[in-house]
Amino acid sequence: MNVHHQLADWRQRRQGPEYAGRSVGFVPTMGALHAGHRALLARARADNDRVVLSIFVNPTQFNDPTDLEKYPRTLAADLRLAEGLVDDVIVPSGAEMYPDGFTYRVTEDKFSRELEGAHRPGHFDGVLTVVLKLLNLAQADRAYFGEKDWQQLRLVEGMVQALFLPVQIVPCATEREGDGLALSSRNRRLSHAARIRAAQFPQILRAAPTADTAAAKLRECGFDVDYVAERAGVRLGAIRIENIRLIDNVRL
Ligand code: PAF
Repeated sequence: MNVHHQLADWRQRRQGPEYAGRSVGFVPTMGALHAGHRALLARARADNDRVVLSIFVNPTQFNDPTDLEKYPRTLAADLRLAEGLVDDVIVPSGAEMYPDGFTYRVTEDKFSRELEGAHRPGHFDGVLTVVLKLLNLAQADRAYFGEKDWQQLRLVEGMVQALFLPVQIVPCATEREGDGLALSSRNRRLSHAARIRAAQFPQILRAAPTADTAAAKLRECGFDVDYVAERAGVRLGAIRIENIRLIDNVRL
């Protein structure tokens, strides 16, 4: 597995014989990898000749500076988890990713303003901009995104369609713990007690008859609820517990 900290180094490899005529699968991440990411990598491995992983904690998608600061950075463990599934890892610096200082950006003007976007202003500008940059760098045939970030997935699909990007977006089912909690890098910040309580979140999302009753029940159970809403046959929610924000969704 080759780890590239310089984009020039990666680009040279991407143009070289190891990639000539091979299908390429790409998994973009912010690191703090867990079994959910491993499932994306395994899927990319099964579908493609070459698998590329990016690890970049993207500052432009954090509207809360504390959240950015506290985001776990675990490169050594991430590389161990990726071993055997990945050919190349891109670990660029902020300076290399944003030579323009984020003056150029991708904005979606409708769906990105709802749900997550309503609670995290500017979040999806950061996500879409970095995903476009990463897709241009990876030049992959397929890119893999988890369904846990359902709104992100739909917006990335929309961007690929709107901008005629030559890549197939492959949605992958949410990986869950035994008690149903969706795997997330944020889970490791929960206290033991909060981690146990957090399992109620997907249970209530699934079992409540309506979005409003789900929100009410979540509040009753002591969660701060940002929203519960339904779109396209999916019920989505965002809650905070110990000031850690969790999102999830279930099919209706
Ligand atoms: O889902 C994530 O981890 C991030 O939003 C992504 C797609 C890697 C962009 O930074």
